[in-house]
Amino acid sequence: MADASTILAVSPVIPVVTIDTPKHAVPLARALVDGGIGIIELTLRTTSALESLRLIAEEVPDIVVGAGTVLTPQQADQAVAAGARFIVSPGVTPALLQHLVSLELPILPGVATVGEVMAVLESGLNAMKFFPAGPAGGPSYLAAMGAPIPHAQFCPTGGVTRASAPEYLALPNVSCVGGSWLTPKPAVEGQDWTVITALAREAAGL
Ligand code: 3PG
Repeated sequence: MADASTILAVSPVIPVVTIDTPKHAVPLARALVDGGIGIIELTLRTTSALESLRLIAEEVPDIVVGAGTVLTPQQADQAVAAGARFIVSPGVTPALLQHLVSLELPILPGVATVGEVMAVLESGLNAMKFFPAGPAGGPSYLAAMGAPIPHAQFCPTGGVTRASAPEYLALPNVSCVGGSWLTPKPAVEGQDWTVITALAREAAGL
């Protein structure tokens, strides 16, 4: 396992992106880089996600590409083989957590409760994704977790918006937030990369 604090430090916002068509992958990643965002979490929610991941890893060296929505050890291995430089899961099971910590790259396991945070800390990791951040309790929930467990660092994702991001980022146990608002579906499908660059630029300045 590698230290995920390097991943949390790349950008104040990790764009969480679902790409339906691999031909959109490289221009989308370049649009984010042009806006000053050097990281992307590509969700494994489409049949072609691994192909999109491979294309970004090969053709856009300026962006750190990771795989999100990793639910099983097998998906983690496939993502690593496709070129993922970090792995994100929405939650953890004992088997998935054990497999993730055996990988030689940064991982952000998903947690939503104090017990899950403790289980992840026990595995030797202190960086995690707080998911789904909004429905699970938002900034006040994270602030409360910081009292007994100040050494856990979070990337809240799920229901985080441009408007709510600053409140999360102001917390001492939040290093960055994740969100899909940088890559709205109509802009991606319409290949309107200037929109994405503008949203990225705004997010990079948060
Ligand atoms: C995720 O997987 O982290 C979420 O789907 C992203 O959540 P959002 O669409 O609410 O930003």
